[in-house]
Amino acid sequence: MTRRSGDPKGPANGPDADLLAATDRAAALRAEIRHHAERYHLLDEPEISDAQYDALVRELRGLEDRFAGLRRDDSPTQQVGATPSVLFAPVVHRDRMFSLDNALSREHLAAWQERLVRELGRTPAGYTCELKIDGLAVSLTYENGKLVLGATRGDGTTGEDVTANLRMIAAVPQRLHGDAPRLLEVRGEVYMPDAAFAALNRRQTEHGGKSFANPRNAAAGSVRQKDPAITASRELSIWVYQVGSTQGGPKLASHWQTLTWLESLGFACNPASAKVQDLDGVLAYVTAAQADRPTRGYQTDGVVVKADELADQRELGFTAKAPRWAIAFKFPPEEQITRLRAIEINVGRTGAATPFAVLEPVFVGGATVSMATLHNADEVARKGILVGDWVIVRRAGDVIPEIVGPVPSRRDGSQTAWSMPTACPFCQSPIVRVAEEKVARCTGGLACPSRVREYLAHFASRGAMDVDGLGYKTIDTLLSRGLIRTPADIFFLTPASLRGLEGWGDVSITNLMAAIERARTRPLANVLVALGIRHVGSTVARVLAQRYRTLDALLSAATCATEALAATHGVGEVIAGSIRKWAEDPDNLSLVARLREGGVKAEDPQPTGAPSDLLAGVTIVVTGTLVGYTREQAEQAVLSRGGKIGSSVSKKTTAVLVGESPGSKAQKAEQLGVPRIDERVFERLLAEGPDALAG
Ligand code: IVH
Repeated sequence: MTRRSGDPKGPANGPDADLLAATDRAAALRAEIRHHAERYHLLDEPEISDAQYDALVRELRGLEDRFAGLRRDDSPTQQVGATPSVLFAPVVHRDRMFSLDNALSREHLAAWQERLVRELGRTPAGYTCELKIDGLAVSLTYENGKLVLGATRGDGTTGEDVTANLRMIAAVPQRLHGDAPRLLEVRGEVYMPDAAFAALNRRQTEHGGKSFANPRNAAAGSVRQKDPAITASRELSIWVYQVGSTQGGPKLASHWQTLTWLESLGFACNPASAKVQDLDGVLAYVTAAQADRPTRGYQTDGVVVKADELADQRELGFTAKAPRWAIAFKFPPEEQITRLRAIEINVGRTGAATPFAVLEPVFVGGATVSMATLHNADEVARKGILVGDWVIVRRAGDVIPEIVGPVPSRRDGSQTAWSMPTACPFCQSPIVRVAEEKVARCTGGLACPSRVREYLAHFASRGAMDVDGLGYKTIDTLLSRGLIRTPADIFFLTPASLRGLEGWGDVSITNLMAAIERARTRPLANVLVALGIRHVGSTVARVLAQRYRTLDALLSAATCATEALAATHGVGEVIAGSIRKWAEDPDNLSLVARLREGGVKAEDPQPTGAPSDLLAGVTIVVTGTLVGYTREQAEQAVLSRGGKIGSSVSKKTTAVLVGESPGSKAQKAEQLGVPRIDERVFERLLAEGPDALAG
């Protein structure tokens, strides 16, 4: 491409200048690609993502296509994989192990089919779609049904003899079932399931060993080392997907039949493979495979599509590098490399100061990512990330983007270390870290605008007060106009106060006012979640609401009867202590008072209408002093669930609830063989019904 004169980007370049620039760039690319190929294939420790690597190779191939003189036989574009390591004996493959051409989009798949149609003069008779497993390609050779050789792919021509290690993988058959051919060479992918990978890295970290960047490297590293016992300890598996040389064996007409035959011999073939009729079938398979990718349990990086008929395959043949009859559709990359511009912090509603990465925007996992969480200062240190680094960013499925780690080889000396700021950027209060906590906290309390903003957003969110339409944007507007400062202020907003705000018309004002009105009568559990008391999430909130029914009752129990609160099933001392601390803070008490003034009910109506029949047919007798209930509360709890309260123990009594210093009723129960239960079991009885007594 030569620039037009007048191009604002610079003066016109002559073709010679272009060639010179291309020669330099190609040399740089070759060196870079070789470096990364070595990290990947020989050391199993890549520094860059596959996608990034592919992009480098594509750029080099583009230059070689434009300037034919730049193409050299030893160019990385002309090779498959890397030369084998010297650790293992070399194995020359009977049949070359080919690589696959890539399709990066659905259009590429359509273009591939068009090519097949051109070559064959007709549409291929169906395709096999397989997951592209992200592991280590191996070849297994069987003679008369016995495994005699296991090899890595290496450069496609020569691989490494890793027989002893591959024998350690349970899914690699040592002997084939049934009528095995004289010679059979099978290709497949050794992989490590995600759960095994996570467990391995945990173990490695605990024992001070190196952790692996991803399951593929873990699989490769486990096979390409000298000790079979290590391979055996690594929970590897294999899916086989292709046959190489054979002598003997059945006449097969299609790849699909081949897979069925391989299974009958005892090989593991991926169950997600499917036979489809046409390109629409292929595209539907790709969509489903991509959707299932994050939850599959092992890593896949695409879909391999193969023309199914072996006669079609023979007719189509191979290019120098890959079969024409197959293509690999690559999923959009889940990892990319980009520049870390800065590390900033967020202050959440609890004051926790969380660092996050500000990134040069990059397209990864199907979305443009410009920020990623860094969790806490320890995490930044553990990952060894410097501000200004090139970093690997990962975004899988709907998971929040994260930084995998830096690319140290790309540092140029301009990178700087980061530490947690000592003052909050929002309110300038000190940020402190309690020794045993991982998190640093802003000490500004509700004087910190960031904290207030997050508190408001949480308060109004679903599961809390659920004020429809009160998201960050509206909160920011209301905060900046001074219309709200605390969550209670929401309930003092009036149509008049909202009128005149930019973008706010009558309809949005009416809607927000209606949403606020609905929020006034949210169930107690929602109010408790909204208040953001530490350790009180939705489950605990529900337990508390069921037990206390009003916010007042809960708060007075928290301060005057903390033990009773702690004894409630599902609560415990930590939660009770946290609620007590919250209830003793005067700021919180004035918030509660103002919420009430604003019309928030914060109570659940007593059950009315037909009582629940959870305890129908159950008779409970209470004896002794209860910790978590008054006698009346306990009896009411049984009655409201359709149970009965007995005044004396008989054979008809279902159970006796025994408190402290019980009377003779406890003995009577023992004599009659009536179960005696404590308050914990009683709680379960109230929640689950009579089944709770069975255990
Ligand atoms: S078929 C001649 N099928 O992808 C056809 N390969 O880039 C050879 N791979 O070297 C390959 N899953 O390591 C095939 N279902 C699958 C695959 C698969 C993963 C790997 C294999 C191969 C590379 C090609």
